[in-house]
Amino acid sequence: MKFAPLLAAACLAGPAFADTFEEVKITAGETLFEAECRRCHATNPSDPSYGPPLENVVGRAAGSYPDYDYSIALEASGIVWTPAALRAWMEDNAGFMPGTKMRHVGISDRTVQDFILAYLQDISPQDNTTISE
Ligand code: HEC
Repeated sequence: MKFAPLLAAACLAGPAFADTFEEVKITAGETLFEAECRRCHATNPSDPSYGPPLENVVGRAAGSYPDYDYSIALEASGIVWTPAALRAWMEDNAGFMPGTKMRHVGISDRTVQDFILAYLQDISPQDNTTISE
């Protein structure tokens, strides 16, 4: 699979820095996020970002980041970014929400989704304890 070298690298790096499998997932997720999402998404709101910053995205209402110029589709969708919604979005964002201006990413591998989700939850300290699938 396309991500195997990245995952292997993240897992090898894991034991030195991570105590639990959850931390290994977060580390792998960060590597995958860097490869797949970072070029358009800052995690730190003060960094320039083509897409909306994704800090605290888990549990956030879609299209609600202040002052970001969303598509009408996303702004009007009325959804909340639960893990299930984020999986559907990573898998086929344009199919999940026709009219979005985010380019299709197409991450259908459940393990890759898991890792990116673990990372997104890790950078969502406001909400990650209250949202499950
Ligand atoms: C080519 C640029 C690009 C890439 C790569 C990209 N995104 Fe996006 N993303 C966007 C844009 C632009 C939007 C705003 C879409 C809209 O307004 O319709 C967006 C919106 C989002 C949103 C909605 C946020 C909100 O505030 O409602 C999420 C969640 C998201 N992206 C996650 C991801 C993840 C996870 C990845 C990597 C797997 C990713 N994106 C990769 C450009 C990108």
